Amino acid sequence: MVLIKTILVTALSLFSTNIDAQLVEKKYSSFATDQKNLLRHLGSGPYVESISFGISTDTPYQCTIDQAHLYMRHGERFPQKSVGKTLNTFFNKLKNASKNMTEIIGPLSFIKDYTFFGDPNWYEQETWTGPYAGIGDIFEFGNILRQRYDHLVNTSKTLPIFTGGQKRVFDSAHEFAQGFTFNQYDQNYTMVVLPENQDSGVNSLANTNSCPNFDNSYEGPLVNMSLSYRKSEADRLNALSPGFNITEDDISDIMTYCGFEMNVRGESKFCDAVTQDTIVGFGYERDLYYFYSNGPGYNMSWVSGSAYANATATLLKDNNTEENLYFSFTHDTDITRLLTFLGLIDLDEELPVDHVEFYKFYSATEVVPIGARFITERMNCYNATTNEDDTFIRILINEQVIPIPDCSSGPGFSCPIDYFLSFIDSNILDFPTLCNMNSSTPQYVSFYWDWKSGKYPTDYTSI
Ligand SMILES: *[C@@H]1O[C@H](CO)[C@@H](O)[C@H](O)[C@H]1NC(C)=O
Ligand SMILES: *[C@@H]1O[C@H](CO)[C@@H](O)[C@H](O)[C@H]1NC(C)=O
Ligand SMILES: *[C@@H]1O[C@H](CO)[C@@H](O)[C@H](O)[C@H]1NC(C)=O
Ligand SMILES: *[C@@H]1O[C@H](CO)[C@@H](O)[C@H](O)[C@H]1NC(C)=O
Ligand SMILES: *[C@@H]1O[C@H](CO)[C@@H](O)[C@H](O)[C@H]1NC(C)=O
Ligand SMILES: *[C@@H]1O[C@H](CO)[C@@H](O)[C@H](O)[C@H]1NC(C)=O
Ligand SMILES: *[C@@H]1O[C@H](CO)[C@@H](O)[C@H](O)[C@H]1NC(C)=O
Ligand SMILES: *[C@@H]1O[C@H](CO)[C@@H](O)[C@H](O)[C@H]1NC(C)=O
Ligand SMILES: *[C@@H]1O[C@H](CO)[C@@H](O)[C@H](O)[C@H]1NC(C)=O
Ligand SMILES: *[C@@H]1O[C@H](CO)[C@@H](O)[C@H](O)[C@H]1NC(C)=O
Ligand SMILES: *[C@@H]1O[C@H](CO)[C@@H](O)[C@H](O)[C@H]1NC(C)=O
Repeated sequence: MVLIKTILVTALSLFSTNIDAQLVEKKYSSFATDQKNLLRHLGSGPYVESISFGISTDTPYQCTIDQAHLYMRHGERFPQKSVGKTLNTFFNKLKNASKNMTEIIGPLSFIKDYTFFGDPNWYEQETWTGPYAGIGDIFEFGNILRQRYDHLVNTSKTLPIFTGGQKRVFDSAHEFAQGFTFNQYDQNYTMVVLPENQDSGVNSLANTNSCPNFDNSYEGPLVNMSLSYRKSEADRLNALSPGFNITEDDISDIMTYCGFEMNVRGESKFCDAVTQDTIVGFGYERDLYYFYSNGPGYNMSWVSGSAYANATATLLKDNNTEENLYFSFTHDTDITRLLTFLGLIDLDEELPVDHVEFYKFYSATEVVPIGARFITERMNCYNATTNEDDTFIRILINEQVIPIPDCSSGPGFSCPIDYFLSFIDSNILDFPTLCNMNSSTPQYVSFYWDWKSGKYPTDYTSI
C-alpha cells in the first residue's frame, strides 16, 4: 500500500512537473468572491467580475432575450510606452541601489534576483502569457457569450464586429470574434473598424477624439489630491528595507508595476511588498481618477456617453433590425462615460480627495477592470395576467446584473423598456454643438446600420 502510494505520488509529481503550474493556476480569482482580492483594486491589472447585488444572471423563466449589445474594453495588456519607461526606470533605481548593499532585507529584498517584466517591443499590446493573458481572456469570453446567445445567431449571415481602430482594441475584437464563431467554423464574421480620429465625428467608438471641448487633461479637484497612504507605505518600506530611498511617487509605480506584471507573468513580487492599506488606498485613487476625468465628476462625460446611449436606444426601438447582436470594442473611459450618462454609477456628492472615503461608492474596478464588459439585453417576457409579452431591459456589467436606478420592477429586476427609452430620449445631449465639433464630420452614429456599405476599413493597418 505504502509502495503503491509512493509510486503514485512519484508518478503524479513527475506528471505535474511537466506542466507549468503558473500557466494554469490563477493566484487571484477572477470571480468576485472576496473584497480583499487584489484584483479589485488595481485599475491596470487583470479582469475581475463585479460584485454587484447577487441577482441571478439567468434569463427569467418567462422571458427570452431577443437583442443584446456589448460594449467591451480591450483585454489585459502591456503598459503604454511612457508607463513602461517609467516602470523600467523605477526598477533600475531599485536594482542599482541593491548592488551597493551588503545586506538586502525586508519586503524589497526580492529585487536582487528579479528581472524586469516588460519587453518594449510589446508595449501597448495585449498579453498572451500567464493565466491572465489578454488574448486568452477575450477569446474565452467570446466563447461564453456564444453559448448565452446561441439562439440569436443566424449562421448563414456574416456577423459584424465593431471596433475602434487602435491595434489592441482591434486585436481584442478579433479574438472575441474567433471565440464567438469557433474560429469561423460555423459562421463568418467581418471586422468593422471605426478610426479613432477627428474625421469619424460622432460615428465612432472613441468619440472624444472628435470633441474639441472635451479636455483630456481635465483634473478638477484632483489637483488637490493628498491621500496619506503613499507616505505611510514609503515610510514602512524605508524602515523595513532601508537603502532604497522609496518616495511617495514610487508607491504609485509599485502598484502600477504590480498590475501590469500580473497581466504578463500572472504574479508580481511588487504586489506582495505592500500592505492591504496601500492596495485599498491605490484602488481609491483609481476611483478618483475615473470619477473626475471620465465619470460623474466631469460634465463632458455625459455628452460623450449620450451619443453611445442614443445609438443603443435607436437599435432597441427597432423591432425589425437585421441583426440582433451588436458587439462593440472600445476603451475604458468610453464605457465609464456611457455609464455616467445612464446614471448607473451616479453619485450626487463629490468624492473627497484628501482621504479614502468608504461611504460614497464609486469603484473603478467594479466597472472598468481591463477586459470590462457592459451588456444591454432586451427581453420579451410573458405576462400570464394579460396573456401578452412585455419588453424589458437588463444590464450586465462584468458578468453581473446591475439594476437600472429607480427601474427594477420587471422579471429579474429588469426595467420596462418604455421607461429606459424615455429616460435616454429625455436626457439626450447635442454632441455636435456641446463639443463644438467640426460640422463636416458625421453628426450621428450610423455604423450599426450602414456597415455593409464598404466605407469602413476591416483592419487596423489600413487606417
Ligand atoms: C542604474 O545604473 C546604471 C549603470 O550605472 C545607470 O546607467 C543608470 O542610469 C542607473 N539607473 C537609475 C534609474 O538610477
Ligand atoms: C553606491 O555607493 C557608492 C559609494 O558609496 C556611491 O558613490 C554611489 O552613488 C552608490 N550608488 C548607488 C546607486 O546608490
Ligand atoms: C438567416 O439568414 C439568411 C440569409 O440572410 C436568411 O435567408 C434567413 O431567413 C435567416 N434565417 C432566420 C431564421 O432568420
Ligand atoms: C465563410 O465564407 C467563405 C468564403 O466566402 C465560405 O466559403 C464559407 O462557406 C463561409 N463559412 C460559413 C460557416 O458560412
Ligand atoms: C473638418 O473636417 C473636414 C473633413 O474631415 C476636414 O477636411 C477639415 O480640415 C476639418 N476642419 C478642421 C478645422 O479641422
Ligand atoms: C483646491 O484647494 C484650494 C484650497 O482649499 C481651493 O481653493 C481650490 O478651489 C481647490 N481646487 C479645486 C479644483 O477643487
Ligand atoms: C532620495 O530620493 C530623492 C528623490 O529622488 C532625492 O532628492 C534624495 O536626495 C534621495 N535621498 C537619499 C538619501 O538618497
Ligand atoms: C461644464 O461646466 C463648465 C464649467 O462650469 C461650463 O462652462 C460648461 O458649459 C459645462 N458644459 C456642459 C456640457 O454642461
Ligand atoms: C416593438 O415591440 C414592442 C413590444 O413588443 C411594442 O410596444 C412597440 O410598439 C414596437 N415598436 C415598433 C416600432 O413597432
Ligand atoms: C402583468 O400585467 C399586469 C397588468 O398590466 C401588471 O399589473 C403586472 O405587473 C404585470 N406583471 C409583470 C411581471 O410585469
Ligand atoms: C440619435 O440617433 C439617431 C439615430 O442614429 C439620430 O438620427 C439622431 O440624430 C441622434 N440624436 C442625437 C441628439 O444625437
